[in-house]
Amino acid sequence: MRVVSGIQPTGNLHLGNYLGAIRNWVRMQDEGECLFFLADLHAISQPHVPAELAANTREMTAALVACGVDPDRSVLFNQTQVPAHAELQWLLNGTARMGWLNRMTQWKDKAGKNREGQSVALFTYPVLQAADVLLYQATHVPVGEDQKQHLELARDIAQKFNNDFASEDAPVFTLPDPIIPPEAARIMSLRDGSAKMSKSDPSDMSRINLTDDADTLMNKVKKAKTDPEVLPSERAGLEGRPEAANLVGIYAAMAGTSVDEVLRDFAGKGFGAFKPALGELLVEKLAPINARFIDLRADRTALDAILRKGAEKARALGAPTLSRAYEALGLVRG
Ligand code: TYM
Repeated sequence: MRVVSGIQPTGNLHLGNYLGAIRNWVRMQDEGECLFFLADLHAISQPHVPAELAANTREMTAALVACGVDPDRSVLFNQTQVPAHAELQWLLNGTARMGWLNRMTQWKDKAGKNREGQSVALFTYPVLQAADVLLYQATHVPVGEDQKQHLELARDIAQKFNNDFASEDAPVFTLPDPIIPPEAARIMSLRDGSAKMSKSDPSDMSRINLTDDADTLMNKVKKAKTDPEVLPSERAGLEGRPEAANLVGIYAAMAGTSVDEVLRDFAGKGFGAFKPALGELLVEKLAPINARFIDLRADRTALDAILRKGAEKARALGAPTLSRAYEALGLVRG
């Protein structure tokens, strides 16, 4: 079992990242060989401030370690220090089809009506993502729901490359499976139950950052958009109530139980009772992460050492597949 996943070092780590992906990263360290990386090359596909990207790469490294990603057990690095990611993307660009990329919902959402004005990198972003996982022969890729389509594309690219350039008994790439949590695979904004919680939302009140202190957390939960109804006794009663469903889902995921269980405890109660309980649960679970993060982020030398050591291991792990891809394509490396 080879586990590979990444996160863009833009802004803070938020509760969507944590519940959708990072918690599974931490768990999967007990199950297989893990590689986790900061997708800093992906982050330049949209306008960015260079100094912020550098600072965010280190901060996000500290946040991941604070969440429980253990750099002694997992390979933790940033893409930039492993040039094979960018090299393999170029090799896969010959296999990926324009039509496949045109269908990506993230591309459509991010480009909006202004496709012509977007960077080429934003369009080919999913090919780099395919390279990220195929380079290491990933079998399992823990992600939130929003990355499922990109993983399907990675499988399509791998399959076509294998068909076109490898023999059936010696495929170059492994087809990776996405690992998506059963609850909380898609955490929504606290201000709008139809938009996903995201680093790019201009309102900080829309998301819970893992770095928020207790007062901020309580305040964000208190101000979260809800409806005037009480909580139902069954899941079906949350239909058509996206904000309520989101908060109950967050509670269940944080408490490590199911939505049904939470509704059993809170059925008939209004948000006046539910929100303080949710706020306290979040404070209790996030406080230790927050404390570790504040400790770690101060030590830039230690963070750089973690990334350097991880990159060294990643370069060695990716080298054989990159060589095979060059060779399969008939590219002579001397
Ligand atoms: P990114 O940086 O947007 O998010 C990192 C991880 O967090 C998950 N996630 C969510 N899960 C549930 N609810 C949400 N509101 C929410 N928001 C984010 C994402 O699904 C993701 O798992 N393109 C990727 C980074 C990437 C990658 C990869 C991932 C680059 N290469 C290779 C896996 C494998 C991204 O931008 O994720």
